Amino acid sequence: MEKEQLFKQQAAAEVLTYIESGMILGLGHGSTAIWAVRGLARKLSRGELTEVQGVPCSRMIEAEARRLGIPLTTLEDHPPGPSGLVIDLTFDGADEVDPDLNVIKGGGGALLREKIVAQASRREIIIVDESKLSPVLGTHWAVPVEVIAFGWRTQAAYLESLGAQVRLRLGDAPEHGAQPFKTDQGNFILDCDFGPIRDPASLGARLDARTGIVAHGLFLGLVTEVIVAGTGGIRHLLRET
Ligand code: A5P
Repeated sequence: MEKEQLFKQQAAAEVLTYIESGMILGLGHGSTAIWAVRGLARKLSRGELTEVQGVPCSRMIEAEARRLGIPLTTLEDHPPGPSGLVIDLTFDGADEVDPDLNVIKGGGGALLREKIVAQASRREIIIVDESKLSPVLGTHWAVPVEVIAFGWRTQAAYLESLGAQVRLRLGDAPEHGAQPFKTDQGNFILDCDFGPIRDPASLGARLDARTGIVAHGLFLGLVTEVIVAGTGGIRHLLRET
């Protein structure tokens, strides 16, 4: 097995040790998170965990969780208190992680639901292989920006005016040819290469303020912990508060 895949599996196995019976869990999307979903199902089937309920971050993960018999729930089933935090722990992957544990997500196209789930989580634990670590966000990965299809070219122009090289993400299903990739919400994704982003908070605020942009892949101040697996073993990074 490729090292990267092995590290992804190790990070996924590690996050399972933080899950307790009775928890409401956010089930992240992507090739790392899916290992954790499968590991969770194994623990449930062996009786090592009971009565957990999962909130899936994508239709794909929802289908996988159902197939594996993981009990599912929705955010609507758990009225939030004043904090709005209804999920005990979410595990999810990331595309790039900076030293402050700000991350870029959305390589798998599930950024909107991932961010909604992250915002509702007491613990947002990111699981990555060490290749995802970066000194400055944007060094290795473009920022995925989810836009509604109506007027998407005007959003592309706006993003270019902010300094991005913009690429409309295309679907990979051959039967669809070179059609735009569609998110679970039916939106498009513009992959925006800003280069290294010195002030992610200011960029994030500009993206948040633009009508037609539904969500962006800068997850700032949302991640509480990162589990990194690599050649030196497993590290657990905690966000400084
Ligand atoms: C899904 O939309 C993404 O945010 C993923 O979590 C991210 O792309 C990491 O994916 P992998 O775990 O597949 O590397």
